[in-house]
Amino acid sequence: MKKVVLIPGDGIGPEIVESVKKIFKAADVQIEWEEHLAGESALDKLGFLLPISTVGAIRKHKIALKAPLTTPVGKGFRSVNVQMRKELDLFANVRPIVSLEGVKTPFKNVDLVIVRENTEGLYAGIEHMVGDDAAETIRVITRKASERIGRFALKMVVERNRISENRLTIVHKANIMKLTDGLFLSSIKELAEKYISEGSLHRIKTMTVDDRIIDNMCMQLVQRPETVDVIVAPNCHGDIISDLCAALVGGLGVAPGANIGDDCAVYEAIHGTAPDIAGKGLANPTSLLLSAVMMLRDKNIGDHDNADKIEAAIKKTLREGKMVTGDLGGSASTMEYTDAIIANLWASERR
Ligand code: NAI
Repeated sequence: MKKVVLIPGDGIGPEIVESVKKIFKAADVQIEWEEHLAGESALDKLGFLLPISTVGAIRKHKIALKAPLTTPVGKGFRSVNVQMRKELDLFANVRPIVSLEGVKTPFKNVDLVIVRENTEGLYAGIEHMVGDDAAETIRVITRKASERIGRFALKMVVERNRISENRLTIVHKANIMKLTDGLFLSSIKELAEKYISEGSLHRIKTMTVDDRIIDNMCMQLVQRPETVDVIVAPNCHGDIISDLCAALVGGLGVAPGANIGDDCAVYEAIHGTAPDIAGKGLANPTSLLLSAVMMLRDKNIGDHDNADKIEAAIKKTLREGKMVTGDLGGSASTMEYTDAIIANLWASERR
C-alpha cells in the first residue's frame, strides 16, 4: 500500500485532517498515512519547527498532505512552509481555481490555474536592518528558476488542453522592477517561443503567450476571470493573486493547492490555521479535501477513480447546499459536512 506523509498542522489543521481521513477510509482509498509533525505542534513536542524526520519522510515517500502551519507576523521564526519548500526544492506552487456549483459568488465558469515560482523572489527571506530605522530585503530572480517555472507552466497549458483557448499569461511588474521582473518575463517569453517552435505543443494546436502587469491582472481577474487559462508569476505576485482568485470561487476554504518539485510534492490547504475558529468544529475542510483529491491524481499515486468519486461527492454536497459550513452560509459542523460527503459517496456507489 502506498505510504503518504500526513502533517496535521496547527489550529484547525487536525480537524480538517480528520475529515480527509474519514472520507478516504469511507472510499477505501488504498494509501497508508504516516503522520509527521511540523510547525508549532512540532516545536512543542519535538523542539524543532521542521524536524529532519518530517523532511526525510517526505523525501522517502515522495508525497505529503499538509494542513496549515502557524507563522507569527513580523517577529519570531521564519515560515515553516517557506523552509519546507526550499528544503525539498518544491519549486512550483500550483493553485487550481474552479467555480463550484452551489457556492455563491458573483463569478461563473472560472477555470484557471496559478503557477507560482516558490523558491526565490521576495520570499527568499534575505532581509536585514540598516541601522535602527531602515530595513532592506533582497529580491533575487534568476534565469534558471524562471525558465524552470516557465517550462512547468507551459506543460500545464498543454495538459489542460482547454476547448476554448490555450493561453499562458506571464504576470510581472517589469515596468517598475525592470531587472528582476524583466528577467522573469523575458526568460519565459523566450522559452515559450522555443517551446512552440520546437513543436512541443503535441495534441493542442495553438497556444497564446501573453503578459500582464500585476495590478492590471488583478483588475482583469475580477472583470473577466473566465478568459484566463494558466498564469505564471514570481513568488509574491503569485501569492497575492492566488488568494484573490480563491475569493472568486468562494474563498480560502474551498480552493486547493500543491507544492511540486522534480522529486516530491506536498499537497496543502491554502488557508491558514484560522485561530479564531480552531477547536470549535466549524472549519470548512474543502480546501484540504480537494488538495487530497489532486494528490490522488499525482503520478506517484495515480488513483484517478477514487479522485473522481470523492470530487463528485464533494461537489454534490456543495451543490445541494443543505449541509455546508458557516463560511459558505450554512450551519453544519466540519463532521456533519464530512458525513454528508460520505453519504453522497456511498449513494453514488449504490447506483
Ligand atoms: P487564515 O486563513 O488562518 O484565516 C483568515 C480568515 O479565514 C479567518 O477568519 C478564518 O476563520 C477564515 N478561515 C480560514 N480557513 C478557513 C476554513 N477552512 N474554514 C472556515 N474559515 C476559514 O489567515 P490568518 O488569520 O491570516 O493566519 C493565521 C495563521 O495561519 C498565521 O500564523 C499564518 O501565518 C498562518 N498561515 C499558514 C498558511 C499555511 O500553512 N499554508 C497559509 C496562510 C496563513
